[in-house]
Amino acid sequence: MNLVILSRNPALYSTQSLARAARRKHHYVRIIDYNNCDLIIEENNLIVSYHGQVLEDIDAIIPRIGASYTNYGAAVIRQFEEKGIYTTLSSAALLKARDKLSCSQLLAAKGLAVPKTIVSNNSIIYEHLLNNFQEDKVVIKLINGTHGIGVILADKATQAGSILEAFNKSKQKSMIQEFISESKGSDIRIFVVDGEVVGSMKRQAREGEFRSNLHRGGSSKVEPISEIEKDVALKAVKYLGLKIAGVDMLRSKRGPLILEVNASPGLEGIETTTRIDIAGKIISYIEKTIAI
Ligand SMILES: Nc1ncnc2c1ncn2[C@@H]1O[C@H](COP(=O)(O)OP(=O)(O)O)[C@@H](O)[C@H]1O
Ligand SMILES: [Mg+2]
Repeated sequence: MNLVILSRNPALYSTQSLARAARRKHHYVRIIDYNNCDLIIEENNLIVSYHGQVLEDIDAIIPRIGASYTNYGAAVIRQFEEKGIYTTLSSAALLKARDKLSCSQLLAAKGLAVPKTIVSNNSIIYEHLLNNFQEDKVVIKLINGTHGIGVILADKATQAGSILEAFNKSKQKSMIQEFISESKGSDIRIFVVDGEVVGSMKRQAREGEFRSNLHRGGSSKVEPISEIEKDVALKAVKYLGLKIAGVDMLRSKRGPLILEVNASPGLEGIETTTRIDIAGKIISYIEKTIAI
């Protein structure tokens, strides 16, 4: 196959791992920075040009779109889609999954459990919003945050209102979420490829921290998941229209709650923790799909 990995940085672990897996299976693979792709649009003629070179004869693209480049990344994917080139991530699914708000809305609407979440655009008095939550603490998070940055645990009585005020004033979109204290700083990452769970791990926040992100100093270990957790993860990925995804869940008193679904999930954490060749599984899925 002639494959293109859309990635801003060829040195990233995930990009390297995918390229290696493709080459191991004797495919031709290029790493293309989607931010430097030019899109030429004319009737019945959509061209993607990279540093002046037209990208042609591609069998599939594997988009790895960073959080700061979602819109341009989606436009580049759409250009390939409309040319009939197979993509492991559709532009529509990327846009649905990317922000925490749209992801929660879509999953909750389908009946999947999520932490109770409130978003308000025009409030200056937060008390009535905060009164919707039972625990003394709430989680406030930036809608477009990643790596745990902009995720804050706040005391309802003393801190939450002023944090919301500050975000509002600085025009940062945020949401208020029920704090799931019983998950004790851990969450579960379930990695899905083509409708199958290919690996799962538990991430635990470091001492004194409630965010389990590895970027925030969390640690990870292999973790078996229950049939219910598996079922919920597969449903979430299906509803969002994703083929490759990392589903993050909190284990709560009322069962698994979906925190977010990552459409360009990193491979480093899951591959080094589980020792499973996830990149190889991704390439096998593309081989199988394209052969049909
Ligand atoms: N409602 C919550 N209750 C308990 N812990 C939470 C909650 N929301 C987030 N966390 C913790 O914070 C981490 C980061 O939150 P998340 O929403 O995944 O943001 P990011 O996209 O920045 O990773 C999660 O992995 C989890 O450990
Ligand atoms: Mg997260």
